[in-house]
Amino acid sequence: MPLPKAELHLHIEGTLEPELAFELAARNGVTLPYADTDALREAYRFDDLQTFLDLYYEMMAVLRTERDFADLADAYLARAAAQGVRHAEIFFDPQAHLARGVSMGTVVEGLWRGLERSQDEHGVSTRLIMCFLRDESAESALRTLDEAKPYLHLITGVGLDSAEVGHPPVKFRAVYEAAAALGLRRVAHAGEEGPPEYITEALDVLGVERVDHGLRCMEDPALVARLVRDRVPLTLCPLSNVRLCAVDALAEHPLPAMLDAGLLCTVNSDDPAYFGGYAGDNYTAVRRELHLTDDALRRLARNSFLASFLEDDEELRARYLAEVEAYEF
Ligand code: HPA
Ligand code: ZN
Repeated sequence: MPLPKAELHLHIEGTLEPELAFELAARNGVTLPYADTDALREAYRFDDLQTFLDLYYEMMAVLRTERDFADLADAYLARAAAQGVRHAEIFFDPQAHLARGVSMGTVVEGLWRGLERSQDEHGVSTRLIMCFLRDESAESALRTLDEAKPYLHLITGVGLDSAEVGHPPVKFRAVYEAAAALGLRRVAHAGEEGPPEYITEALDVLGVERVDHGLRCMEDPALVARLVRDRVPLTLCPLSNVRLCAVDALAEHPLPAMLDAGLLCTVNSDDPAYFGGYAGDNYTAVRRELHLTDDALRRLARNSFLASFLEDDEELRARYLAEVEAYEF
């Protein structure tokens, strides 16, 4: 039995495995510019975040109907459950779909169809986090939040993703203020490729409660001290960092130093179809390459539930935490 864990940094569009992509392409009459799944996997060589994003957005062309989004979510939840994920807070990128003529209702209701049976079928509780694309305009983000208003009962929070450098958090001040006023939780990608200043800005200007990645905080000791003091969770994605060249090799990942510094680190998969592993694979890889102890792994799992947005179900959180403490390696 795998270690129970929560996954807090997971882009549902990044769980699109080549086999499902070709199945959906056939179902929807979409032609992909790859001969087969092997040819597509050959394209999984990235120099940085942008080279990945180009493929990530291209592959979304196969997602057209509610059923497609439901199938995508269900496939992810089955895989995640098999790797010990008990709770998943799932990002989605509506602007990438709206731009292709797929409506907010199709995306959210389709994902929900997958999520609503997750607890019963997979034993995984779920939440949805709607991300704004930071390389789109602030006005587009505001329009997106507006379009999401009929579905806010299904959405727990907002996030910020896509190309980081040159798109500082401050650009999204207004939409985060509006989201907070609507009672939405707030997270943002910061310090993946962008500088530590973006992490500080995400905290100060956007009021985020968790930082996605946050890797580059290690360049700023005062920021590390603040993140430790305020117990701000970081959602790290080790295999993603290797594939997107944010670190040279997994053995050089700063996770051990971050744990030693007292940061509230969690381990997640980001875009598992593209980066070579789901949540459990990330735990296994850091254990092997970074020589983490059983205690360190248990701490990561505990952190994942502490950092989750389960304030609306503390009983469930307590149950998950008890499972972590009782786990035998
Ligand atoms: N970083 C930023 N944006 C993203 C990512 C990521 O790792 N995955 C999907 N969108
Ligand atoms: Zn991400």
